[in-house]
Amino acid sequence: MNTTKLSVSSKDIVAYRGDLLVICMAQPEQGLPSCEDRLRPLAMNALELGDFKAKMDEILILYPDRAIEKTFGARRVMLAGMGKVAETEDPCVLRETCRVVGGNIARQCAKIQAGSIMISLPVLSRLGPGGVAEGLAEGVLLGDYRFRKYKTEDKNEVPYPGLTKVVFHTSSGMGEVRKGVERGERAARAANAARDMANEPGNDWTPSRFGEYAQGLSDSMAMSLTILEKEDMQRLGMGGIIAVSKGSAEPPKMVILEYRPPQPAETILLIGKGLTFDSGGVSLKPATGMQDMKFDMCGGAAVLTAMQVIGEERPDVGVVAIIPATENMGGGAAVKPGDIIVHYGGVTSEIVNTDAEGRLILADALAYGIEKFSPCCVIDLATLTGAVIIALGHHYTGILANNDELAERIKEAGRCSGEPMWRLPLGPEYSKQIESEVADIKNTGGKPAGTITAAAYLQKFVGDVPWVHLDIAGTAWEFTEKSYIPKGPSGIGTRSLIHLVRNWSAFLRKTG
Ligand code: BES
Ligand code: MN
Ligand code: ZN
Repeated sequence: MNTTKLSVSSKDIVAYRGDLLVICMAQPEQGLPSCEDRLRPLAMNALELGDFKAKMDEILILYPDRAIEKTFGARRVMLAGMGKVAETEDPCVLRETCRVVGGNIARQCAKIQAGSIMISLPVLSRLGPGGVAEGLAEGVLLGDYRFRKYKTEDKNEVPYPGLTKVVFHTSSGMGEVRKGVERGERAARAANAARDMANEPGNDWTPSRFGEYAQGLSDSMAMSLTILEKEDMQRLGMGGIIAVSKGSAEPPKMVILEYRPPQPAETILLIGKGLTFDSGGVSLKPATGMQDMKFDMCGGAAVLTAMQVIGEERPDVGVVAIIPATENMGGGAAVKPGDIIVHYGGVTSEIVNTDAEGRLILADALAYGIEKFSPCCVIDLATLTGAVIIALGHHYTGILANNDELAERIKEAGRCSGEPMWRLPLGPEYSKQIESEVADIKNTGGKPAGTITAAAYLQKFVGDVPWVHLDIAGTAWEFTEKSYIPKGPSGIGTRSLIHLVRNWSAFLRKTG
């Protein structure tokens, strides 16, 4: 939760007087799971009887008898299994283990209504105390997420307010642990902010709200903000976003937030689809499930919340974020099938299906952003096609790219963030599918390879700038069930982008 306070301590663990003391335990190759000496008498029976083996996802709660164990402060002790971590060499896999265990802890706390907890950090030599703390902090905060804003209180049952205090206990490496907790906390809070934006209904989270949120970031951490209004878009010739917004009473916004380090070697351009409600427009979507189309802004949410961490951490690389934001509605003035529009930069497009609107607003943002900011590379995130769900289900984000090195970097950032990604091809065969009889291109390529032809549309606007498109339609909500991923919007993309920027090494110089 937003109000949860995280801290680090090395004080005597037995004296901790909170709701719950958590011991994360790895499963040994042989014998009993190792246990903090002071807790051994308490846990001994369970370990010896084999009631707790420290398997992944295993949880056991013990209740110290404070009449006997007078020194004991905590009311409950929880053993949280981590599985066989000794076999794992890969720090990214170990960090995911910590995240999942963190999520398990948060879920268990909700069940027993524990508010203040202490977590004793496990030792995972291949990850180090900073990484362990980071993964656990991230997992706990992500797992403790809930969205109750619109639930009016039930008088008979006071809802669990979430964790209030989480203390990470370590006997060594305080500095590293503190930094790890802070990194995990920033990333989780950003992803939770993206979930909040998505959970807000379309009548609250309008294009203007993206602008207001960006204004808040710009005010509080020295990033410059430009919001292009409808008139600016018209003047600049952004025919894509104008066309999509025509059926809506909500004014469209193109939100541009710039982070500039003192000596920027290069600038990354991030673009996120901010479609605050996608009805399909005149090519109306079926009613069943249409309410989920309030989530069609998750790409924009990922980009904007990643900027929040970038603004805080101030890396050496410049980052510019653009969020084209609008609704897609039907109405007397709405764009119609058969209409021809002119994108920023002059490419003409025949609108075959008004429901293929994401590519229209992204095309303007890509063309404009690349011309204006000369980035070293561009990454866009969008809930772009239902077809990516057919291809990859709800487990992998689709990657489409014109540059292998950049695609690999993003894929690795995703893997290390617990957000797996899989690359699909591009090519002239697919681009041919979107050739139009009457304009330069058309906005759908038919049923076959819908995810690829959507990306082929975007490719028209990036030229030879290294570019990666992430189709998050399958993962932005209903993402793979995990302890730290709630039902509803997952906050996907935010943490992968943060990981990418945190670990950025010069791109142009290396590949150019
Ligand atoms: N926002 C949708 C894509 C989508 C569909 C996201 C389902 C999540 C779940 C997008 O704007 C859209 O409607 N795409 C169409 C394209 C088609 C008309 C070529 C689609 O996927 O059906
Ligand atoms: Mn659509
Ligand atoms: Zn859409």
